[in-house]
Amino acid sequence: MSKTRDIAVIVNGAACRAAVEPRLLLTDFLRHTLGLTGTHVGCEHGVCGACTVLVDGDSVRACLMFTVQADGRSVETVESLGRIGNMNALQESFHEHHALQCGFCTPGMLMTATDLIRKYPLATDDDIREGLSGNLCRCTGYEHIVRAIRAVVASKTGKTL
Ligand code: FES
Ligand code: FES
Repeated sequence: MSKTRDIAVIVNGAACRAAVEPRLLLTDFLRHTLGLTGTHVGCEHGVCGACTVLVDGDSVRACLMFTVQADGRSVETVESLGRIGNMNALQESFHEHHALQCGFCTPGMLMTATDLIRKYPLATDDDIREGLSGNLCRCTGYEHIVRAIRAVVASKTGKTL
């Protein structure tokens, strides 16, 4: 019989308590236990960035983190940003600039970009590209993704980048 551990975590602003197996990955907890399937699973070994979420405000690979490591912490997933009909500025910008094709990388791109926009001035496109370098887009939509992020940064700073 497997032992479980009780955890308390804030997910997208809502308090959540659960009994989880110590080996349960955060991706599986979010997707299968909580039904937050916006967090995608690609490589499952920390390379592609599709599973990126924010934990206490920092972007992390949810496929490399055990759920028990999120105990007492705050997790933000792509579902926290907005929904169809009520998208936030970054999601709108991805839509406007055609920053997705198949969309598989998009949740991870959005969460990494959220982290970058909150923390850094992103003064140049190279800064944006460097910040996104841990997220892979198999459709190679990087130019449009950078353009979408640049537009959000520009609207915040009032500058054209
Ligand atoms: S699924 Fe986590 S980095 Fe690829
Ligand atoms: S839009 Fe297809 S993987 Fe990025």
